This record gives sequence, structure tokens and C-alpha cells, in this order.
Amino acid sequence: LRSLKTAIAQTASAVDEMLDRLLPETEGAESRLHQAMRYSALGPGKRLRPFLVVSGANLFNVAPTSALRVAAAVEMVHAYSLIHDDLPAMDDDEVRRGRPTCHIEFDEATAVLAGDALLTRAFEILADPVTHSNPAVCLELIRELGAAAGAKGMVGGQMMDLLAENERLSEAEITRLQMLKTGKMIAFSCEAGAVLGRAPVQQRFALRSYAHDLGLAFQITDDLLDISGDAAEMGKAAGKDAAAGKATLVALLGAERARKQAGLLARQAAQHLDSFEEKADPLRRLARFVVERRA
Ligand code: IPE
Ligand code: IPE
Ligand code: MG
Ligand code: MG
Ligand code: MG
Repeated sequence: LRSLKTAIAQTASAVDEMLDRLLPETEGAESRLHQAMRYSALGPGKRLRPFLVVSGANLFNVAPTSALRVAAAVEMVHAYSLIHDDLPAMDDDEVRRGRPTCHIEFDEATAVLAGDALLTRAFEILADPVTHSNPAVCLELIRELGAAAGAKGMVGGQMMDLLAENERLSEAEITRLQMLKTGKMIAFSCEAGAVLGRAPVQQRFALRSYAHDLGLAFQITDDLLDISGDAAEMGKAAGKDAAAGKATLVALLGAERARKQAGLLARQAAQHLDSFEEKADPLRRLARFVVERRA
């Protein structure tokens, strides 16, 4: 686990350098927008999605610059999703990554715009030939990230999450909600390296299966941490899901069964990587980390 943490930290600092370069500070009337974008994208998060992109890319000998640019684009979309998730109209949170949320530090309108601009910037980066010299690869990344982030992916899941407040969803319905809300962005992160490396379909499918189980295990753990985690350690409020009546597996099955399910999913995730050699060890270890984390 120590070597995994070192690897995550190394990728995080490389991706932060890339984010810093791709989101420059500016002069002029719009500089407040750039400040808000940088504040949220460069805030102290775990950088799990960038780690998935880079670890996946390492399986297929992808050029580091390509992998880091895609990792930065994914983190921008993730940061945008957090900014909007925290808005008063959504989860109404005031603390994120141990600091005031974007709309508290700046203001609501700036937070909405910073989210918009991070989302569009991500696609601009994927479309740039510096990301990959083959336009077909860029197009596939753009199409897949669009699908993962949009109405049939993260945003669709966020809609379901809000509509499900105080509704009794079945286990299957909650699973679908979580697959869209969290799972699709994680799946894109896991598969992006295979797209960049033009990997054979079987290997791409193996990564997709890994991502499917990892994404569910990740969100169950997020929901467990909401009831049992330490707000200071997590850098965000705890105990909000029950108060808001969120539909989670923790609420439906109870913490103990939800924790077992997450553990099972994490082990299953790693098993999907059996056809890869030691190069996939970071991804195997990450599956355990995702359910054992405290933040
Ligand atoms: C939080 O994601 C939002 C969810 C999808 C549950 P992370 O737990 O990856 O947040 P950061 O990036 O580390 O802040
Ligand atoms: C948010 O899920 C998932 C996103 C798409 C941002 P949560 O609302 O549970 O995430 P946290 O707990 O605020 O980080
Ligand atoms: Mg939410
Ligand atoms: Mg939230
Ligand atoms: Mg949560």
C-alpha cells in the first residue's frame, strides 16, 4: 500500500504540473474566472481518475505527455462536476477538499461559469493534436468523454440522484444511478489508455469490466464515509446523505452489508485484470485502496 501511495502522489504531482500549464492565470476582466477554475482544479484532491488514466496508459506504452493531457482533461471534468455538485441548488456544501467550496470562495455565478469553462477546456485539450497525432484517436476520446460526462453518464446520474431524494429505490435502481453518476467517468478514465494505445478489444473489455466494479465499489465507499468518515480527514462534510434522504446502498442495505458488497466488488475488479502481467499491479492495488480509504 505504501508503494501505491507513492505512485499516486507521483502521478498527482505530474498531473498538477500539467493542469497548471493548461489553466494559466490571466490578466483582464475575466481573470476572476481563471482564478476560480484553478482554485477548484488544483485543489488538494486524491487525483484518482488521473491515476487510472496514467496506469491504464502504462499498460500500452503510451507517451507520457498524451496520458497526462488526457488525465488533466478528466480531472477538469471531475472538478467541474464537484463545483456544480456543491452548489446550493444541488448538495449545498460549503467545504470541499478541506477548503471553502468554489461558490463560497468566489460566488455562485462565478462557480457556475468556472464549471462551464473547465468542462469545455477539457474537450479543447482532447481535440488538440498535441494530445495525439492521430485525429481518429482524439475523436474517440472526445466522443467517449462526452458520453461519460453527459446526460447518459455523470450528469444523467446527478439528475437521478436529486430525483431519488426521499424515494425508496431498489438495489438495481441505485446501482444504475451510481453507475451513471460515478461509474461512467471512472470507466472513461480506465479505458482512455487503451484508446491512446490502440489496444486490442479484449484488453479494452477487461479494463471496462474492472472499471465497472471499481466504480461501484468507489461510490459505495463514498456513501459509507458519509456516515462513518471524519469530516476533517475527508475535507468535506459528513452525515449529509441521510439528512437529505439520498438513495444509497448504505441506506438500503445498512453499513455492514454495503461494506461487504464494496469489498466483493473490489476483489472482483482486480480479477478482471488477470490477463495482464505485473504492469497492472498498480490498478490491482488501487482496487483495494478504493475500499480501504478514509478520505
Ligand atoms: C468525490 O470524488 C465525488 C464522487 C464521485 C463521489 P473523489 O472522492 O474522487 O474526490 P477528490 O477528487 O479526491 O476530491
Ligand atoms: C457526487 O456524488 C458525484 C459527482 C458526479 C460529483 P456525491 O454528492 O456523493 O459526492 P460528494 O460526497 O459530495 O463528494
Ligand atoms: Mg451529490
Ligand atoms: Mg455532494
Ligand atoms: Mg458523497
